[in-house]
Amino acid sequence: VLPGLLDRSRLETRDRAFATELVYGTTRMRRACDWVVDLHGRGRLDLNVRVSLRLGVYQLVFLGTPPHAAVSSTVDIAPARARSLVNAVLRRVASEPVSFPDEATALSYPDWVVERLSADLGPGPARVALEAMNRPPNVTVRADGYVQDLASQWVAAAVGVRLGDRVADLCAAPGGKATAMAHESAAVVAASDRNADRVGLISANAQRVRTTNVIALAADGTRPPYRSGSFQRVLVDAPCSGLGVLRRRPDARWRIEEADVDRLADLQRRLVDAAVPLLRPGGTLVYSVCTLTDAETVDVDRWVAERHPTLVPLPLPEGSWEAHGRGGRVLPQTADTDGMFILRFRAP
Ligand SMILES: C[S@@+](CC[C@H](N)C(=O)[O-])C[C@H]1O[C@@H](n2cnc3c(N)ncnc32)[C@H](O)[C@@H]1O
Repeated sequence: VLPGLLDRSRLETRDRAFATELVYGTTRMRRACDWVVDLHGRGRLDLNVRVSLRLGVYQLVFLGTPPHAAVSSTVDIAPARARSLVNAVLRRVASEPVSFPDEATALSYPDWVVERLSADLGPGPARVALEAMNRPPNVTVRADGYVQDLASQWVAAAVGVRLGDRVADLCAAPGGKATAMAHESAAVVAASDRNADRVGLISANAQRVRTTNVIALAADGTRPPYRSGSFQRVLVDAPCSGLGVLRRRPDARWRIEEADVDRLADLQRRLVDAAVPLLRPGGTLVYSVCTLTDAETVDVDRWVAERHPTLVPLPLPEGSWEAHGRGGRVLPQTADTDGMFILRFRAP
């Protein structure tokens, strides 16, 4: 919603950046803001009043906006009947230090995300990762002008595409990695995605970076429409819980549910199962996810080891990867990138 509103606004660059910070930041820190709002605002608040208060609290507690500016500008946009309430609550917030009741509230994540990452990464690294994902992402731009996180660029490079290769990218939309692979190597990339609406994005992005080597098509990656042994390289950049990219998607933490993790881990295995027969002898399979749960990373690797024992794991590719099982992981705090996991294999 926000980019459309900003495009139609007459705001200057600095004000656009501030509006973006307010919307993204308040969305990320919603739980923490609500806790502060509920501490001071008694009774049930209707949503418009609550949203005004969240915006004010975010500025006072997290953004360091001067209190008089945060309070008066928030009061100005609050519903008229609630202005004195908003004024009173925000003045109280501005005058008292906040102490949150627990880590999940202070860091503003659902309990299950904090618990799951603490169990899988260890409490220390999990906390640092969660803090890192409360900060806005770096913007990195490829040589061809495409905006893509560095860790995603490392994944595309790790596929090791060479001129003349045929490449299948089974979960390709919006085409970030497909266009990177096609551009770097001039190899032909069959870029498919199950979500037909998103396939158009692959073509549009290929056009934008001026490559004609990406063939975009709608197809379910668990039943790819290709003959066995057709590809030198296959990439499964699988749908995942996205717990490594929460800094980029401020609302994602409130939408993903713990039950999704197991469902996605099952889909990830089925995608790998469908990818293996597509490889030519000696071909390369890359599996990647932008998440940090064991279920979607090392557990998938353990399953591959049993299910496809002839696949030979390849060494860690270039990038800030640390060994994780037979694959590599980069945490959001390691190199200020998205959190990512990669497995690479050579077919017999
Ligand atoms: C992590 S995103 C891919 C990002 C893309 N590789 C890039 O670099 O721009 C995962 C994609 O998997 C797609 N997807 C989900 N289930 C699928 C399936 N069964 N077969 C193929 N694609 C699927 C989603 O629509 C989503 O676009």
